Amino acid sequence: MNDLVRGSGPERQPAWKKLTELAARLARRPVAELLDDQERNQALRIDVAGLSLDFTKQRLNHEALTTLTTLARQQQLPARIEQLFAGAALNTSENRPALHTALRAGPGDAPEHAGRVVAETLARLQRFAADVLAGRRCGSSGRAFTDLVHIGIGGSHLGPELVVDALQARGRGLRCHFVANVDGDVLTRELSGLDPETTLFVVVSKSFATLETRENALAARSWFLERTASTDALAEHFVAVTANVAAAGEFGIAEPMIYPLWDWVGGRFSLWSAVGMPIALAAGPEAFAGLLEGARHMDQHFRHAPLLENAPALLALTGIWNFNFLGAGTLAVLPYASRLRLLPDYLQQLEMESNGKSVQHDGSPVGVHSMGIVWGGEGTNGQHAFHQLLHQGTRSFAADFIVIAHRDHDLEDHHRWLLANALAQSQAMMAGQDSNDAHRRVSGDKATTTIVMERLEPSTLGALLALYEHKVFCQGVIWNINSFDQWGVEVGKRLALPIHAQLAGAQTVNQDASTRYLVEHLRSPDRTGP
Ligand code: F6P
Repeated sequence: MNDLVRGSGPERQPAWKKLTELAARLARRPVAELLDDQERNQALRIDVAGLSLDFTKQRLNHEALTTLTTLARQQQLPARIEQLFAGAALNTSENRPALHTALRAGPGDAPEHAGRVVAETLARLQRFAADVLAGRRCGSSGRAFTDLVHIGIGGSHLGPELVVDALQARGRGLRCHFVANVDGDVLTRELSGLDPETTLFVVVSKSFATLETRENALAARSWFLERTASTDALAEHFVAVTANVAAAGEFGIAEPMIYPLWDWVGGRFSLWSAVGMPIALAAGPEAFAGLLEGARHMDQHFRHAPLLENAPALLALTGIWNFNFLGAGTLAVLPYASRLRLLPDYLQQLEMESNGKSVQHDGSPVGVHSMGIVWGGEGTNGQHAFHQLLHQGTRSFAADFIVIAHRDHDLEDHHRWLLANALAQSQAMMAGQDSNDAHRRVSGDKATTTIVMERLEPSTLGALLALYEHKVFCQGVIWNINSFDQWGVEVGKRLALPIHAQLAGAQTVNQDASTRYLVEHLRSPDRTGP
C-alpha cells in the first residue's frame, strides 16, 4: 500500500495544538510590533533564484515559525519532497507520479525514463521554433509564419498565455492568439484578419478529448480548409501537443507535428513541456530555455534547502498559518506589474484545482480547511477598485504582493510610483490608520507577503512559477490531500452532454424543474437563430 494512504490529518499532530495556542497569543499582538525583532525579520527573508521573499509582515514570531516547520516534518514533508522528485506515485487516486520537475531537470537529475523522452521532445521543440523563427520552416505556400493560434484550455492554456504575455517585450517571434473558451466569440475574434497562409495552429490538450478544445480545433480546421482548399496544407499548419497521440492523428495532424505529453505530467504543471510551444515561438527558444533554467534553480533549492530557509516551504507554511490558524478565507494575488496581470488566473487553477479538496488520500474527510479562494488583479488598478474591502471590509484574507525591482521601459518615475504604491499598500494593510472618525479608521494588522523579482525575465519567471508549484505541493502534503487529481470537475462535464442535446431539440427528460425551465427558455424558437 502506498504509504501516503496511511498518512493522517495535520490536526492530529502535536505541533497543531501548539500552533493553535500560539495563534491565540499572537492574535493579540500588532504585526507592526513584531517587526522590532531583527533576528525574526532576518529569518523571515529569503533570497533565491532572483527572487527575494519577505515574510516580515506576517503575524509570525520565531516560535510560530519553527513550530510550523515541526508540523511540516510531522507530516513527512522532507520525505515527500524526495518522493516527488524520485517519481513516486504521489497522485494516489490515479496511481501516478507527478514528475513535472523532470521537464526542467538537469542531466541525470530526473528518473531515467522521463529524462530521456523529455530531452528528445525539448530538443525537437526548440529546433522547430528556431526553424520557424529563422524562416527555414514556412507555411505550405512558402510564406513565413507570422501568427500562432493556440487552442487549449485550463492547464493547456493558462501557463503559456501568462508567460507569453509577461515576456512579450522580448518577443521577436510570432504574434500569439489564445483561444480557450467555447464561446464562439473568442475564436471568431482571434481569427478575424488572420491570413491562413501565414498562420500556425497549435492544438494543446493532454487528453485530446476536452470539449472546448475539440470544438475550437474543429472550427479552426474548417476555417483553414475553407480558405486554402487543401488538406495537404493542414500538415504544415497544424501542430498538436498531447498525451493522446492517436486522437491527434485521427484529427488529421501529421505525425511529425505531434509533440507528446505523458500521464505523469498534470495539465496545470505542464507549461514546461511542449505545452509551452508558444513561448518558444513568441519569445524565442532561448527564452524558453531560460524559463526552464529558473524553474530548475528553484527545484534544486526546494529539494535541498532546510525547511527554515526553504522559500516554497515557507510560502506554504505561512499560508497554512493564515488559513488554518488565523481565519483567512482567501488569498489575494497582487502583482504590481502589468506584465504579470494573468498571474492570478494562472494561480487560481494551480492552487484551487490542486488543493480544493475535502478528502484525504484514504478517502476520509479532511478535518481542517484546505485551500481557500484565490483571486486578485494587477496593481495599481486594484487600489481603485477592490482594495477598499481589503482595508476596511469585514472579511479576513491573506495577500501576496509581487513586485519587480528593475523596469524594462524608459519611464523611471512611473516605475518608482508603481513600487511606492505596492509598498504603501502592504504598509497600510499592516499599520492601518487611527482616526476619531470611524469611517476613516483602518484597522490594519493584515498579513501579507512581498515577493520581489529582481527583473521580469525568463529565469525569474520560471523560478516564480516553480515557487508556487512547490508551495501548492507542500500545502497538499500538510493537509494530507492529493494535489494532483481533479475529480470534481468531471460532474459538470457529464451533465453538459444531455443539456447540449436538449438545447438542440431532444426531449427535456430527467431534468430538475429549474434546469428544464432554463433549457426550454433558451431554446424557444426566437432564440435558435444566430
Ligand atoms: O477540466 C479540467 C481539466 O481537466 C484541467 O485539469 C486541464 O488542465 C484542462 O481540463 C484541459 O485538459 P486537456 O489538456 O486534457 O484538454
